[in-house]
Amino acid sequence: MDCNLIAYLGFASVSYIGLRLLYDVYSGVKLYFLSSYPDFGRYGKWSVITGATDGIGKATARILAKRGQNIVLISRNASKLQTVARDIQKDFNVETKSIRVDFTQDESIYEEIREEIADLDVGVLVNNMGISYPFPEYFLKIENLSTTILNMIRGNILSTVKMVEVVLPGMVERKRGLILNISSASALKPTPMLTLYSASKDFVNHFSQAIAYEYEPKGIKVQSVVPFYVATKLSKIRQSSLLVPSPETYAQSMLRGAGRSKFTYGYWAHGLEGWIIQRLPDWVYSYIMLQKGEAIRQKAYKKRQWQKENNSGEVKKEQ
Ligand SMILES: NC(=O)c1ccc[n+]([C@@H]2O[C@H](COP(=O)([O-])OP(=O)(O)OC[C@H]3O[C@@H](n4cnc5c(N)ncnc54)[C@H](OP(=O)(O)O)[C@@H]3O)[C@@H](O)[C@H]2O)c1
Repeated sequence: MDCNLIAYLGFASVSYIGLRLLYDVYSGVKLYFLSSYPDFGRYGKWSVITGATDGIGKATARILAKRGQNIVLISRNASKLQTVARDIQKDFNVETKSIRVDFTQDESIYEEIREEIADLDVGVLVNNMGISYPFPEYFLKIENLSTTILNMIRGNILSTVKMVEVVLPGMVERKRGLILNISSASALKPTPMLTLYSASKDFVNHFSQAIAYEYEPKGIKVQSVVPFYVATKLSKIRQSSLLVPSPETYAQSMLRGAGRSKFTYGYWAHGLEGWIIQRLPDWVYSYIMLQKGEAIRQKAYKKRQWQKENNSGEVKKEQ
């Protein structure tokens, strides 16, 4: 081959990679550092948040209330709903409405939700509720496998789609709306030991980005939010750090970038992790996750064994 052609192709490839890198850095800085909160009021008066009594959902509800939104809180536990709603009313002087449902139940819960919010000007929906395993596990060894399969499909997949089905017609009629669907970084590539969770979150990710194209021309923004670890009950990480933000830090960052793209990691350090992981071959990522999952699983088994032995010790002492 002609030496000039090889040099030209080499130069073109290096330039492309360089420009691509610059563009990624520019997009990341713009999204995660230079964005200010959108005017949520222009979407409507009410925000609906599923899983609003803990973690990312609770932090999100409080920020939206601080920015003047009335809040519909949806979760399973009545007393937690009451406490979070009361605190939001007291701290931010907005209206709240609480709906107590368990998203692992059958489809009738969505009729209840539809009726409860029928008269509200819902501008923002945050499909935040999600459930995972107690710890990474081989598919056939998952405790109560049949129930877990159903719960994961109802809790992660059905809840997202049905909540969109409930809220979207009103948004389309009003020609305005913002929907954030919380997926997970485990959806980026096949994640062994979290098969059901990762696959269900992959559904959320693809559904969100696809429907975003359909309804953008009708004035509705839909965004897939893909967090890595956040320090919440679900992740069982208590201490926040640079890579593992608190739910408050994560929710702030996510809401600043709300609706600015069809896909976001929601937080700058997660954007960096995602950038790296997207460039790994699937088999490398999946192999690492298999090893990591196995190590966490072993630790969880040991902890259970320790708890069993100590609890039985205490019972014996009491006798
Ligand atoms: N934390 C992470 O590291 C991480 C990473 C990636 C993705 N995510 C995703 O982020 C979202 C929020 O997670 P999180 O870590 O903030 O969770 P979290 O702290 O465990 O909070 C979960 C919320 O959902 C509610 N909830 C749980 N099961 C429910 C059910 N069956 N029906 C109705 N409500 C239910 C809980 O309320 P009650 O207990 O009162 O019912 C709580 O308000 C999830 O979709 C999760 O998959 C989290």
